Amino acid sequence: IKVGVVFGGKSGEHEVSLQSAKSMIEALDPHQYTIVPIGISKAGNWHIGKNAMKTLEEEQKQAKKVSSSSPVRYINQQVGGLTPIAEQPSPDPVPSNLVNDVDVIIPVIHGTSGEDGSIQGLLELLDVAYVGAGILASAVGLDKIVMKQLFGAAGLPQVSYIGTTRKVWKSSPNETMEQIERKIGYPCFVKPANLGSSVGISKAKNRAELERAMELAAQYDRKIIIEEGLDVREIEVSVLGNDDPIVSVAGEILPSNEFYDYKAKYVGGTSTLVIPAELTDEQRQQIETYAIQAFQTIDCSGLARIDFFIEKSSGRVLLNEINTMPGFTRYSMYPKLWEASGMAYSKLLDTLIQLAIE
Ligand code: ADP
Ligand code: DAL
Ligand code: MG
Repeated sequence: IKVGVVFGGKSGEHEVSLQSAKSMIEALDPHQYTIVPIGISKAGNWHIGKNAMKTLEEEQKQAKKVSSSSPVRYINQQVGGLTPIAEQPSPDPVPSNLVNDVDVIIPVIHGTSGEDGSIQGLLELLDVAYVGAGILASAVGLDKIVMKQLFGAAGLPQVSYIGTTRKVWKSSPNETMEQIERKIGYPCFVKPANLGSSVGISKAKNRAELERAMELAAQYDRKIIIEEGLDVREIEVSVLGNDDPIVSVAGEILPSNEFYDYKAKYVGGTSTLVIPAELTDEQRQQIETYAIQAFQTIDCSGLARIDFFIEKSSGRVLLNEINTMPGFTRYSMYPKLWEASGMAYSKLLDTLIQLAIE
């Protein structure tokens, strides 16, 4: 089977994608699969073939060198050179030989231009099988506001939130903050609606922090979500399948920072994963049921990691979010949870490929 692995991409999660793809490429059985690496640079340029990974890494190094001496402003340089949307240069077109001789594609891109239905749409048009969620589930799963509206309509428990836009924020910041204070209060979490890996997310405890948090989120996205900030445990499960999805054992994250921000996730690697998580039978049952409901509510397929909160004071289980292309390094929660449930990393990849072509 010829497997195209698409990685990188224009999102703030570019670096995470490279790590996920490296682990996958190493684990795919060479007797069973011929691997075609397909890299998309941060600027959106496509590189196909065995040098794709190296080329992207080189480009990344060059971009960092330039950024320290150029007037282009790179936000969060210390966590991987994340570029504000407005400042990204325009890319080369998608190469026409993209899917020559490929039987199936693994689009292991996290965040915008990959986990949001755009790659999935391209692959649908090219009529090639691919691993994971389709256009609808990808798009809905990445937009935290639409996702929460659908979960709410399905009766799934979640934190209070409000959604707004950059335009509303810029035109009436004081009214927006008053509304947030009235409906949500402090502490609150402010997030760009369409990102992942905690990029652009802040916790605000007062008006001044709220203003900074809104400004930051507005740099990353047109849409912003503000949520009630609870004191929570963070529990995650992995879901696998198409029409009859199954749920893994649950894992708990003990973040090394105040919350599970980008640094706690990827820099220094000091956050701890506890697998299996310690839960009451009732909590475990609820999490399994909600996980399947969440997966089916957005019409997901293939895989998803479903993230929950347990409010510390009450023990209440709340759905946080669904990730349709979760981190997939050897050390990531998604494959770790399957390992703990009896499915090794390589076998998991085999299963995902089967689910894509069945
Ligand atoms: P991402 O899609 O970037 O992973 P999340 O919505 O999962 O964004 O938020 C990232 C982290 O921020 C969570 O893992 C958690 O640590 C913290 N967090 C987010 N929302 C809340 C909330 N409403 N209450 C408490 N902590 C939160
Ligand atoms: N968005 C990152 C990759 C995750 O959810 O694992
Ligand atoms: Mg998350």
